[in-house]
Amino acid sequence: MKVEYFVGYDDVYAKWQLNPETFWMEAAEGIDWFKKPSRALFEDENTSSWFKDSSVNCCWNAVDRHVEAGNGDLTAILYDSPVTLTKRAISYSELQKKVALLAGGLRNKGIIAGDRVIIYMPMVPEAIEAMLACARLGAIHSVVFGGFASNELATRINDAKPKAIIAGSCGIEGNKVIDYKPLLDGAIEISAHKPLFCVIHQRDQLKATLLTGRDVDWDDLKTNSAPVDCVPVSGDHPLYILYTSGTTGEPKGVVRPTAGHMVALHWSMSNIFDVNPGDVYWAASDVGWVVGHSYIVYAPLLNGNTTVLFEGKPVGTPDAGTFWRIMDEYKVKTFFTAPTAFRAIKREDPLGNLVSGYDLTSLKAIFLAGERADPDTINWASKMLNVPIIDHWWQTETGSPMAANPLGIEQLPIKLGSPSVAMPGWNIQVLDDQGLAVEAGELGAIAVKLPLPPGSATTLWKAQERYMKSYLDTFPGYYETGDSGYIDIDGYIYIMARTDDVINVAGHRLSTGAIEEVLAGHPDIAECAVIGVSDPLKGQLPLGFLCLNSGCNRKHNDILAEVISDVRGKIGPVASFKLACVVDRLPKTRSGKILRATMLSIANGKEYKMPATIDDPTILKEISVALSSCGYPIG
Ligand code: COA
Ligand code: AMP
Repeated sequence: MKVEYFVGYDDVYAKWQLNPETFWMEAAEGIDWFKKPSRALFEDENTSSWFKDSSVNCCWNAVDRHVEAGNGDLTAILYDSPVTLTKRAISYSELQKKVALLAGGLRNKGIIAGDRVIIYMPMVPEAIEAMLACARLGAIHSVVFGGFASNELATRINDAKPKAIIAGSCGIEGNKVIDYKPLLDGAIEISAHKPLFCVIHQRDQLKATLLTGRDVDWDDLKTNSAPVDCVPVSGDHPLYILYTSGTTGEPKGVVRPTAGHMVALHWSMSNIFDVNPGDVYWAASDVGWVVGHSYIVYAPLLNGNTTVLFEGKPVGTPDAGTFWRIMDEYKVKTFFTAPTAFRAIKREDPLGNLVSGYDLTSLKAIFLAGERADPDTINWASKMLNVPIIDHWWQTETGSPMAANPLGIEQLPIKLGSPSVAMPGWNIQVLDDQGLAVEAGELGAIAVKLPLPPGSATTLWKAQERYMKSYLDTFPGYYETGDSGYIDIDGYIYIMARTDDVINVAGHRLSTGAIEEVLAGHPDIAECAVIGVSDPLKGQLPLGFLCLNSGCNRKHNDILAEVISDVRGKIGPVASFKLACVVDRLPKTRSGKILRATMLSIANGKEYKMPATIDDPTILKEISVALSSCGYPIG
């Protein structure tokens, strides 16, 4: 008699620990290779790469192979845009044709493997087609989120040095139409690097005026081209660069290696998210963020799922029942969003009256990430939807979850406040200042023992030294996540705060340093500090303290309005920078370090110890007074 053994999380994790090489080579069987890798891990002094000697193409794996296998009629993308009242279903066959033709157009214009292409597009299927067309050619895409302004786009143009930029004519934010063309033109004007050409996808809501000689219409590009095949690239070839916030105003260009990324994402779909090919999977994020790259585009398509592309907001498009309408209409099995989206819905429909009109029986689980999932939100969602609400933790750099509750292997008990346990590939440790592992339950810096698993960032674009300094130098032998927290005796991880100047606003990662750089550029400002204060909807909001130049006697309100507009204009509306106040001085240590943590405690009404090194304790009172003057806490 055959005995079937239950294989649970502990077994799978132990299997990886025992022999990572075998584990990842087995996972690699889920991918089609032009040339199979001879082994999984290739290590040198500074970096590790995965499946490096293979030859592969990501677009083939995400699109063509499903058509080849006879699944061309399966829906690849379900586009639902309440803001334009549009719905479209695109099958894998149709997607293949569109992508091959677009790639043909790009090739005609000279794009080859290794060229960079910036994509600045809203949540339309063409954004996915553009990403896949680049992948088809081995060109490295870099998607820039539509909520970033010209300056941020220019920084990325200068760093990635793209041969082409593909942009939409406009984005739609609720009932606002955002004209992308002036933002694009403005960015190209201020950037030192100029792309050879731009491809503009014209939307009906607002047509852009094209610049003769530089801009090409999306449809014209395709009309005059022939479809092209997938170009084989080596396993460590960069699939994309995704810029994310670091400590300074210079964003970090996270480089994603092709093969490892595919293997890790493909593995995660069945093992973590518990979805099978053909299932409908929906990540309500944006293609401009890592969640969009991994779980709107690549993972569901690599796994042969139907991915939902939603152009709208959880509330107001048209109401707080939109999510439930989509889940019902498309029979969504697995849903992924940031906790802030649920907080927005809960605020408008606390009793869940809008849930009851829909049939949500297809829904099996909800995954939350991007920021801390507060227990109130989890409890509310769990009560409303009656499915497991799974918190999971990862970062732009890692590309897929470091910690999760792996539903596809085994549903572990949920502990509120924890994204559960380390996934295979991730040896997660909590370290003290000396880099020594602390006891269970003790707070410290969260780090990952090297090597990082497949799919993790292997470097920062043209900035290996910065990569080392940002992630590998602090704790030799470990990757520094930038998060602090603890691990309990059952191995459950708790993420408590960032150890750097990164804040998380509505699930969007922002740098307070970048905002400070904009504020410091104002002619009346001598010194400033930005902290991330708590907000019941967005999790955190940036709040600026400004010290004016001596002798400046302009009205404070005028200066505040100017800096708020500067941040919106230079970083973008996504920074949500609306809170600022003028102070005479900033609290500092005797050595001149600004006491941001103390200011944060005051703002958030938390108890704090008077820092022993403070140069003048009376300043703290001034901080409290200034805070109340700027309308924080809001309401
Ligand atoms: N293009 C142009 N502008 C954009 C934009 C885009 N792609 N995305 C956001 N903005 C603008 C918004 O219109 C808003 O502008 P405003 O100041 O004029 O109102 C500003 O940037 C801030 O946007 P956001 O933080 O998204 O706030 P919001 O009030 O519009 O919506 C939520 C709040 C919670 C509903 C929204 O943030 C949300 O749905 N979050 C889901 C989480 C998510 O997708 N996270 C991604 C990682 S998983
Ligand atoms: P990003 O690179 O934009 O995905 O942001 C990554 C950061 O968001 C992490 O380093 C954490 O600070 C935070 N984060 C992401 N997921 C979680 C989570 N589940 N719990 C707590 N913080 C999270």
